[in-house]
Amino acid sequence: MAASRKNANDWLPLRLLKIGLRRGFDVLERGAERLFSPALNPLAQIGAISFFLFWIVAVSGIYLFIFFDTGIVDAYSSVEWISGPQWYHAGVMRSFHRYASDLMVVSVAVHLLREFSLDRYRGTRWFSWFTGIPLIWFLYISGITGYWLVWDMLAQYVAQVSAKLLDIFPVFGEPLARNFLTPEHLSSRFFSLLVFLHIAVPLILLLGMWIHIQRISRPKVNPPRLLAVLILAALLAVSLWKPALSQGPADLTRVPVELGLDWLFLPLYPLAETWGEWGLWGLLVGVSVMLAAMPWLPPFRRAPAAEVDLPNCNGCNRCVEDCPYEAIRLVPRTDGEPFPHQAEVSADLCVSCGICMGSCPSSTPFRRVQDLKTGIDLPGQPLSEVRESVIAAAAELKGEHRVMVLACEHGAGGADIGGVVTFPCVAMVPPSLIDFALSKNLADGIVVAGCSESACYNRLGVEWTKQRFAGARDPYLRKRVPRDRLATIWASPFESGRYETEKEAFTARLATLERTAPTLMQAEEDKPRLEAEG
Ligand code: HEM
Ligand code: SF4
Ligand code: SF4
Repeated sequence: MAASRKNANDWLPLRLLKIGLRRGFDVLERGAERLFSPALNPLAQIGAISFFLFWIVAVSGIYLFIFFDTGIVDAYSSVEWISGPQWYHAGVMRSFHRYASDLMVVSVAVHLLREFSLDRYRGTRWFSWFTGIPLIWFLYISGITGYWLVWDMLAQYVAQVSAKLLDIFPVFGEPLARNFLTPEHLSSRFFSLLVFLHIAVPLILLLGMWIHIQRISRPKVNPPRLLAVLILAALLAVSLWKPALSQGPADLTRVPVELGLDWLFLPLYPLAETWGEWGLWGLLVGVSVMLAAMPWLPPFRRAPAAEVDLPNCNGCNRCVEDCPYEAIRLVPRTDGEPFPHQAEVSADLCVSCGICMGSCPSSTPFRRVQDLKTGIDLPGQPLSEVRESVIAAAAELKGEHRVMVLACEHGAGGADIGGVVTFPCVAMVPPSLIDFALSKNLADGIVVAGCSESACYNRLGVEWTKQRFAGARDPYLRKRVPRDRLATIWASPFESGRYETEKEAFTARLATLERTAPTLMQAEEDKPRLEAEG
C-alpha cells in the first residue's frame, strides 16, 4: 500500500484534537446536509462563503464611502446621517458592511478549524495554510481600522488602545498615543492615513486571497446561488432587526466607560490593559508563528510523487484536468513520438493522491502485458501492484455474494478488512478496474468507498468518481458494467456504522440478482491467463 495519512506521522495531542473536531464537524455537516441538502451544505463551501462575504463587505463599503465624510469632525455626523435619515439604503448598507465582516471572521475561523480537522494542510499542502495566516491579520486590520473611522466612543477606545499597542515600535517618530490625549492633538492627516489603510488593507487581503488558492485547481470561490441568496437574506433580516449603530460621539476629554465591544473583531483589546502591550504582542506573534509552523509540526512523511511514463503518454491532458493540486502540465514532446505534448509532474506540488493514474487512458488492467505500465503512475502503488492487489483481494472473498471494496484510506472503508484494496483517493481507481474485477468474476459486487462526500480529503476525488461513473467525465465507466453490482459509499472514518449498514444493504441487494452471463463467460475465458499471472 502507498505511503498514506495512516503512516504520516502526527503528534498525539494534535491527532486527538483533529479527531474531536472531525467528529464535531461530521455531526454538524450531516445536520446541515439534512437542513440545506448536500449541495448547499454551507460547511462544505466555507472558503467560498468567505470570498462571498468579502465581496459583500467590499460593495457595501464602496456604497458607504459615497456618503462618508473623512474629516475628524464630520466623520461621526456623516455616519449618523447614514444610520438615521438614510437608514433604508445607506443604513442597511452599513449593517451589511458590519455584519458581513463579522460573519467573515466566523467563516474564516470555521474554515481554518475544518481544514485542520481534515488534515489538509501538511506536507506538500502547506501552501494554502501558510498563506492563510497573513489573511487573518489583514482581515483584523481591516476591521479595526473600520471601527476607528466612525469616530464614536468605541472608535476612541480602539484608537487609544491601538495607539498604545503600536507605540512599542519606535517607527512612528513621536508616540501615536499623543494624538488621542486631547482634542487639540487630534490630527486630520492621521485620520486620512486611517482612511487610506481601511481601503488599502482589504485590497492587500484580496491579493492574499488570490495567492492563497494558487496551488489548488478549480478552487470553489463562489457559493451556490441559492446559498448566496440565503446569506444575503439573513444579512438583510439582521440588518433590519438590529441595525449597526454608533455609540455616541468620541470625546477625548472623557474616558469611555460603558462600551459595546465587537467580540469578534476586538476580543483581545481588553487584554491589552491586563497583560500590557508586550504581553498582547507576545500572544499575537506567538500564536501566528505557531500556526504558520503547523504544516511542519511534525514533518510529514510524504509518498513519492507521481511519475510519467512517456511510452504510455499521448499528451491527452486528462491528468492535467483532474489533478486537484495544479501539479501536472503539458510540455512539448521530447521523445519524437507523433504527439505534440507530454505530461510533466512537478514533484514539489504533487501530494501523491493517485487521481492522475485513475484518469489516464493507459491505466487499464485489461492490457495483456506482464509488466503493466501506464502513462502516469504512483511509484508507491503502481497500477501493476493495484491489479495484483485486486486479484489477491478476490481470493479473500468467500461465500455466495462476494463484495470487493475499493476504498479511500481516508474514509470508513479504509478500515474495513477482507477483500479490500485501499487507495490514497478513490479517484485513483480507473473505472476499467471495476470492469476488470466484475467481468473477470473476481467479485459479485464492488463497493467504491470514498471519504466524506462533502469533505473529500483530496478535494475533487469524490466529484471525479461520481462524474466518471455517470459517464460525464473521461475515463468513464463503460455501459456494459452492470450498475446494480456497483455501489458507492461516502463515509468519513467516524461513520463506520453507516458504512457497514450501506454495505450490508448492497450485499442483500446482490442476493436478489441473477449472475449475468457475460460475467461468467468472460471469467471462464480468462481463467487460464489469470492463473498464469498469479
Ligand atoms: C480571507 C480568508 C480566507 C479565504 C477567503 C479562504 C478561501 C479558501 C478557498 C476558496 C479555498 C479553496 C477551497 C476548495 O475549493 O477546496 C481554501 C482552501 C484552503 N484554505 Fe483558505 N481561506 C481563507 C483563510 C484561510 C486560513 C486563515 C487558513 C488557515 C490558516 C486557510 C487554510 C486553507 C487550507 C489548508 C485550504 C485547503 C488547501 C488544500 O486543499 O490543499 N484558509 N481557502
Ligand atoms: S498524484 Fe497525480 S493527481 Fe495527485 S497531486 Fe500528484 S500529480 Fe496531481
Ligand atoms: S492522462 Fe495519461 S496519456 Fe493523458 S497526458 Fe496524462 S499521462 Fe499522458
